[in-house]
Amino acid sequence: MAWDPALYLHYADERLRPALDLLARVPLVRPGHVVDLGCGAGNVTALLKHRFPAARVTGIDDSAPMLARAREAAPDCSFAQADIAAWTPAQKPDLLYSNAALHWLGGHDALFPRLLATLAPGGVLAVQMPAMHDAPIRARQHEVAAHGPWATLLTGVGSAPPILSPEAYWDLLRPHCAALDFWETTYLHALQGEDAVVQWAMGTSLRPFLAPLPAELREGFLAAYRAAVAPCYPRRPDGTTLLAFRRLFLVATVGVASSS
Ligand SMILES: C[S@@+](CC[C@H](N)C(=O)[O-])C[C@H]1O[C@@H](n2cnc3c(N)ncnc32)[C@H](O)[C@@H]1O
Repeated sequence: MAWDPALYLHYADERLRPALDLLARVPLVRPGHVVDLGCGAGNVTALLKHRFPAARVTGIDDSAPMLARAREAAPDCSFAQADIAAWTPAQKPDLLYSNAALHWLGGHDALFPRLLATLAPGGVLAVQMPAMHDAPIRARQHEVAAHGPWATLLTGVGSAPPILSPEAYWDLLRPHCAALDFWETTYLHALQGEDAVVQWAMGTSLRPFLAPLPAELREGFLAAYRAAVAPCYPRRPDGTTLLAFRRLFLVATVGVASSS
């Protein structure tokens, strides 16, 4: 199931907040070249251009529907379709920014040092990733996938792989950078609507499980998943559903004397 910009942006405010929190900690004043890795629908790319109006801002994503939306959202930025795993910049960026995208890729032991090495001297790698693999919204997906008439079709299917521990990212990055700003935040997203947690997951982590299923099995899978997550995220008396969502942030600055 391809990325659906409209479904993803259903909770645009909630998904934007960590992007802004990350951007607020970027310690650059006038970067010349900014890259938004996994730019999605481009709403955050537009904010990067707004914060750094003199910069050349480029969005990279491998989803054609997301890029089509991004080109509308940020007409004064440029965009390219590429797999981040294989992407290298033609010119060293001053800022590599990535909100809620790099957790979709494995191999972080190699990926993160490689991204750092692409930066211009004094450049910054700023990344936010969900740390939600064990949370019910994610864990129940695997449990439901393994039991039911869809189990055979979903053998071996998974969503974004677990990210590394905070300590592992620290040890991986610290030797390669002059400064490392590093924190976690658990947001309590106050979601409205009947089916809020399922709607949230359908915009992101549930996509790989729904993609292989024919329509009739998809409905059954969604009903089973809905029943499985409901006790974990009870609606409050006012109708709100609180979704606790933990995210890891890192802002790594490489030395000015280093070009690697
Ligand atoms: C959850 S969205 C985040 C979009 C945007 N950064 C934001 O904050 O709204 C994740 C995006 O990462 C992209 N993505 C995932 N894996 C990718 C890869 N290997 N190469 C390029 N883009 C990728 C997806 O296509 C999707 O648009």
